[in-house]
Amino acid sequence: MSERRDPWPQRGTAPLPPAGRPEGARGRRILRRLGRQAEALGADRGDHAPVVEIRKLWTVFQSPGREQVVHRDLDLTIERGEVLSLVGGSGTGKTVLLRQILGLEKPTKGEVRVLGAAPGELSAKGTANVGMLFQHGALFSAFNVLDNIAFALRELKVLPDVLIRDAAMVKLQMVGLGPEHALKMPADLSGGMIKRVALARALVMDAPLLLLDEPTAGLDPEGADDFCDLLRGLHRELGLTVVMVTHDLDTLFDLSTRIAVLADQRVIVAGTAREVIACPHPFIQDYFLGGRGQRAMAALHEHPEADDAAQVDPDGAAGLAIDVGTARAEAPPRERSGPWPPPAATRS
Ligand SMILES: Nc1ncnc2c1ncn2[C@@H]1O[C@H](COP(=O)(O)OP(=O)(O)OP(=O)(O)O)[C@@H](O)[C@H]1O
Ligand SMILES: [Mg+2]
Repeated sequence: MSERRDPWPQRGTAPLPPAGRPEGARGRRILRRLGRQAEALGADRGDHAPVVEIRKLWTVFQSPGREQVVHRDLDLTIERGEVLSLVGGSGTGKTVLLRQILGLEKPTKGEVRVLGAAPGELSAKGTANVGMLFQHGALFSAFNVLDNIAFALRELKVLPDVLIRDAAMVKLQMVGLGPEHALKMPADLSGGMIKRVALARALVMDAPLLLLDEPTAGLDPEGADDFCDLLRGLHRELGLTVVMVTHDLDTLFDLSTRIAVLADQRVIVAGTAREVIACPHPFIQDYFLGGRGQRAMAALHEHPEADDAAQVDPDGAAGLAIDVGTARAEAPPRERSGPWPPPAATRS
């Protein structure tokens, strides 16, 4: 086994910390520090600045004899604390847009700003402003759970292994997985566990912006409900801004504060569920008012509070991630009485 595959010197000798009380004081300190960095970035910019600004964005892919325009003059603004869901047909460029926000891909033309900077800029200084849960989990199959979660922290090359390990354990507990799973390999995990580990990895840098690409795809209804509960709790407790791509209408109505629809190579409408459904575009009418859409809408009508105003804890970021293991427990029950989903901003 290569050194890369087994980076924990104490593996197999030191016991893992017990659930709920890891030897986590150091982990919590380091996470607090990362959290303060994320906060400081927000403070520099002022809390009211948009988290994501996309202006006149073009994405064009060239292949021999063919030019594919995926995005054409696309505009989108995402404010702090939103859970903005991107919906659109397959191949309309939702994943590509997330990758551009993350800084993994550059648009052909136009501008993407994340907390006022180009997506790659801040991470180049050693802090992350974006974490992403990839469409198919994208765990490194040769790394165990803890190594997968710790990957970005290790890449920073500034923290000792023991602190990185603690920080990764904190995140493992935060997504509702006990320490007994830390040394498992991805092949030994259920679909729901893979999603949770991928989420822990996306959270490990305490980035204030979380991107979720199809977070509940492939989960059974109960697993999808549990994962939505987890995401709802984390969004509220950590004060995150979330951009989510989903084809699952239950997840969409369950979590979104605002919905943006991609069609005709741009965002054709962005607003509350009701505002979006009022748009006469054929994709929207098909998507929301077909059989599946009608059923999900019926659930929405049973919860008219879904269009009320957003309830995002403005101080959430201050306690960033530190009360480990409790985030899930504190997530509201599925039968909620409170104002969830938080109400949507009305701007487009
Ligand atoms: N690096 C690339 N080179 C060439 N074409 C690409 C590249 N990345 C994406 N595409 C193309 O861009 C289009 C949009 O891809 P994308 O993965 O963003 O779709 P999507 O909206 O996420 O679809 P789905 O809902 O099926 O996941 C597709 O036609 C895809 O083949
Ligand atoms: Mg996709």
